[in-house]
Amino acid sequence: MSRASLKKAAETPARRPAHRAAAAPELLALLARGGEVSGAELAATLGVTRAAVWKQVEQLRARGLGVLAEAGRGYRLDAPIELLDAARIAAAMTPRERERIGAIDVRWQIDSTSSELARGADPLPNARACLAEIQTAGRGRRGRRWQTPLAGGIALSFARRFDGGMASLSGLSLVAGIAVLRALADAGVAGAALKWPNDIVAKGQKLGGILVELGGDALGPCRAVVGIGLNVRIGAEQGSAIDQPWTDLASLAGGEAPSRNAVAGRMLARLAEALDAFGASGFAAFEREYAEHDALHGREIAVASGSETWTAIADGVTSRGALRVVRGGRAIEVDSGEVSVRATGE
Ligand code: BTN
Repeated sequence: MSRASLKKAAETPARRPAHRAAAAPELLALLARGGEVSGAELAATLGVTRAAVWKQVEQLRARGLGVLAEAGRGYRLDAPIELLDAARIAAAMTPRERERIGAIDVRWQIDSTSSELARGADPLPNARACLAEIQTAGRGRRGRRWQTPLAGGIALSFARRFDGGMASLSGLSLVAGIAVLRALADAGVAGAALKWPNDIVAKGQKLGGILVELGGDALGPCRAVVGIGLNVRIGAEQGSAIDQPWTDLASLAGGEAPSRNAVAGRMLARLAEALDAFGASGFAAFEREYAEHDALHGREIAVASGSETWTAIADGVTSRGALRVVRGGRAIEVDSGEVSVRATGE
């Protein structure tokens, strides 16, 4: 993928916000079956006029989906899509893996899957999950917006209770990253790596991001909501709205996108597994695996903290998940907080 242009960068450093009309889920579900469907058939099935069908098609197009209209034949999508489906997500897990997760809530549209889980009752240790096709107020790290391309990405949040206090959770976003890489391997996708503290990358381009938010008692039982946004297949129009170098699973897999439901199911199974192990043994149990996937190791990086930016050489992570760097010959540990890190030359 080429470096996306920086147009509209003032709106958001990550992705443009959505001010679009809600697209039509039922229409999209009909088109997602594949093939051409006439306007008359769509109108009859949906119980609306053909003009209303046209309006809904425009809403889908405004969200970057390629809906082709051929005179006298009907409408069809320019590329196949797969909508999220709770049963198909569950089918990607073993019965035992499924038991470790409570409710899996799949929504068409929501403000933010992470906000939804934060609003809910405290999760049991074996977690709850929420996924959505559209987030109207998706959040990225450091106050940025996060917009998931309709039917082209995965917006998934996973909430779990931890009893040892918030201080014991340092390194959680790195563990979530390892869980995502395990899930991608399960789905047959290789070539992804982790960029401290929260990016999933491939060949220097962003494949996804992780946002961990904590709530509850700082010293006692608390809730962690792990929110993950992953690019599965981003259309050309959708991709032009992303103002940083990006890639998607389809590109990594040689053009054929893996099933979104299968990837989502494996992500949930691997998150439940990894967060259980993290709750029992902390980040130390993941140090070696992280090192195998550390995209920054040995590279010169620029660390931005407040108004200050300095360069250093990345030297792995500590047993509590802090970034270890060498700056001017001196070893320093960097905590994620409000710091932003990028490899120089990217
Ligand atoms: C980042 O790279 O800045 C982290 C992005 C995290 C986005 C995900 S999408 C699902 C969940 N819901 C949100 O509002 N944000 C996270």
